[in-house]
Amino acid sequence: MSSVQISPSILSADFARLADEVGAVPSADWIHVDVMDNHFVPNLTLGLPVVEALVKASPRPLDCHLMIADPDRWAPGYAEVGAGSVTFHVEAARAPIRLARSLRSAGARAGMALKPATPIEPYEDLLGELDMVLLMTVEPGFGGQKFLDVVLPKIRRTRQMINRHGGSVWLQIDGGVAADTIERCAEAGADVFVAGSAVYGAEDPDRAIQALRAQAEA
Ligand code: DX5
Ligand code: ZN
Repeated sequence: MSSVQISPSILSADFARLADEVGAVPSADWIHVDVMDNHFVPNLTLGLPVVEALVKASPRPLDCHLMIADPDRWAPGYAEVGAGSVTFHVEAARAPIRLARSLRSAGARAGMALKPATPIEPYEDLLGELDMVLLMTVEPGFGGQKFLDVVLPKIRRTRQMINRHGGSVWLQIDGGVAADTIERCAEAGADVFVAGSAVYGAEDPDRAIQALRAQAEA
């Protein structure tokens, strides 16, 4: 049994046809939803009302990646409307342990995201509070950027850390994941792969997911 999961990012989908776009990727394990507030990152996308509508429209559970200031205040709402996974940025959180607990108690998986230059080591003791660690492999804010190889050693160290803690925390990689980078990420220990432009920029998004999965499993 393979543990590889693919989470296509609708940031690269057609925002005028989101229900169709999430329906076009039956091979996806999750639908990755990038929430940006124009404060934590220099871009603005969508928020809670759209996520609430997508929960109903999507055949797959939502994997919400919150690139927002003050996630302590806003993130639990995403769990409450039915997102299957809610990921906050540790750089923005004031009380990450309390926040992770409130996400779990609202019924979601709790994820913690790190920008490329944020070290994982200070957060080792939080792993027991988390269901997923997201390591950004581009600076958050935009799709279609180049994968940052400089993050690969951190992916390896995070995998070792997770394994020391029993191995149940998922390790997600987000940014520049495509045919030419996914194998390196998998080899370094990632098991959940976000891909935006490599899926929704492809002629056939569902086949692109299948091809990425095959490469990650190789
Ligand atoms: C960027 C977002 C990503 C983005 C990835 O800040 O968090 O999820 O959609 O896009 P690609 O796969 O094109 O790098
Ligand atoms: Zn994302």
